[in-house]
Amino acid sequence: MIQETIQSRRAVFPAQYNDQPISKAEVETILKAANWAPTHKRTEPWRFKVFHGEAQEKLGTWNAEKYKETTANFKDVTYKKFYDNPTKSGCVIAICMQREPKGSLPEWEEVAATAMAVQNMWLTAHDLGIGAFWGTPGTMNYLNELVPMEEGEKCLGFFFMGKYDGELPEGIRKSTIEEKTVWI
Ligand SMILES: Cc1cc2nc3c(=O)[nH]c(=O)nc-3n(C[C@H](O)[C@H](O)[C@H](O)COP(=O)(O)O)c2cc1C
Repeated sequence: MIQETIQSRRAVFPAQYNDQPISKAEVETILKAANWAPTHKRTEPWRFKVFHGEAQEKLGTWNAEKYKETTANFKDVTYKKFYDNPTKSGCVIAICMQREPKGSLPEWEEVAATAMAVQNMWLTAHDLGIGAFWGTPGTMNYLNELVPMEEGEKCLGFFFMGKYDGELPEGIRKSTIEEKTVWI
């Protein structure tokens, strides 16, 4: 049931990942799901940079060094985390959004469409027994220094993925849907 998949999906962090690899076929299945997100004017603005295997080491080193270079509050533990997150994952996908060149849509609609693509990925990963989370470190704003990006393309974060042992925790929501809803 889709309701069950939606409700049991969790943010699963690299510290929880085991050493089991994620196959290229699994990554492709997750990406295919992204491409079925809805879009206004069919701009299909989601773009992805896949770091799988050796490229994760390159991302980890770059991420940690970029953190060191740009932070005003350097901490060794955070430097290590910026290296560990990409390298401990089974795969990392940079989530990017390509603005439609004529600007015929407001940016928020293209961000929204990209976020819907990410939810498709997250639910598909969960269905495959792969844990994931969307992380938004400050280094994402410099991704074009590591990977060439098009004019109008922007990185919105990293989708970290990994297999895990055991059960996922129950989710927490601070308030019910009734409290967030008005029936007119
Ligand atoms: C746009 C977006 C950005 C996020 N960025 C981060 C992040 O930078 N760090 C983090 O720990 N979690 C991040 N998350 C994951 C949330 O922390 C997580 O989804 C939330 O705690 C709810 O938990 P659940 O997904 O397990 O229900 C992000 C989620 C979204 C949708």
